[in-house]
Amino acid sequence: MNTKSFRDKFKIYQSDSSVAPLYMLGDAVEVLKELPEESIDFCMTSPPYWGKREYHGGGIGLEKDFPVYIENLCIVFAEVKRVLKQSGSFWLNMGDSYRNKNLLGLPWRIALALTDRQGWILRNSIIWNKVKGGPDNTKDRLRNIHENIFHFVKYPKGYYYDIDSIRSSPRKAKVVNGTVVSATGVTGIRYKRKIELSTELSEREKHNACAALEEVLRQVADGDISDFRMIIKGEQRTIHSNSEKVSGRAKELKEKGFYFLKYHPNGSKPSDVWEILPEDTQKRQLHFAPYPIDICKIPISATCPPNGIVLDPFCGTGTTMLAAQLLGRKSCGIDICKGYLDVAKERSESAL
Ligand SMILES: C[S@@+](CC[C@H](N)C(=O)[O-])C[C@H]1O[C@@H](n2cnc3c(N)ncnc32)[C@H](O)[C@@H]1O
Repeated sequence: MNTKSFRDKFKIYQSDSSVAPLYMLGDAVEVLKELPEESIDFCMTSPPYWGKREYHGGGIGLEKDFPVYIENLCIVFAEVKRVLKQSGSFWLNMGDSYRNKNLLGLPWRIALALTDRQGWILRNSIIWNKVKGGPDNTKDRLRNIHENIFHFVKYPKGYYYDIDSIRSSPRKAKVVNGTVVSATGVTGIRYKRKIELSTELSEREKHNACAALEEVLRQVADGDISDFRMIIKGEQRTIHSNSEKVSGRAKELKEKGFYFLKYHPNGSKPSDVWEILPEDTQKRQLHFAPYPIDICKIPISATCPPNGIVLDPFCGTGTTMLAAQLLGRKSCGIDICKGYLDVAKERSESAL
């Protein structure tokens, strides 16, 4: 029989070089209490839904009243905060529930409990658009196809964030017949005409605008930026507030007669709406709600350092661990149900 404590197992695991996950069978709070403080780099989890499904091992989600469910989750997340390093991130995926036809807003109730009572900093609220929902026979409301994913950190500054690892690869600018053409086909010719024909710009402003346009086209040619848009006074409806008090760009437009929107040369950042199909191919007979592996890729790549350790305190069939393993990170998974951990182990072993 293996009698080592979770603390000992974790210590051994920390010094091991393998990315094969460490699985720990037990109640999330009890197991987390054994882990040393500030020993985890990243946590991502999808807790049991409230009152919706019965998982095999009992546990959280079966509370009669939802405030008790929120309390129980907060106890787990306080432990997550303790074990997370100062540079760490916590990503929480939550689905909502109805009671007496009333949508409870559980994801936000929990997010606000975490910021207001535990001092977490909420950096993003992502809408996970599941694109296709489950069967829904109700005739008096819309289909629900989204869940929330929250990104929390412990401190406002100094948390690990590798933005370049999650940028989409930009299309490159090219030169056609001696003319620089940006990634989306902008050559500057239209902007030049607009400047010349402008009735709102003074001659001096026109001169400056043309010179600035030449400079931006040179930056495109040199690969310093991949694309740009030029906003010229009186030519486009501005997409920001026209008030100079709230917008530096409105001020620029008033003072110079133009400004540029420059696109980052390494590509654009993902937005906070993700369209990802739910996982429905994995072991459906055993587990109801494994979230898809793609959900974990942006969070892990951006906020877990390559040599960091990932944690999922409600790991179920181990999707977070599998994503970590595929991205070359070590990971620990906790679940109260042995059956799920067996599936999780099988999944990670076949991916090794
Ligand atoms: C929504 S599922 C997680 C699914 C997971 N993301 C996956 O990939 O399969 C929630 C999990 O929390 C587990 N659970 C419920 N209460 C628990 C507790 N007190 N401690 C640890 N795990 C618990 C359940 O057994 C279930 O596997």
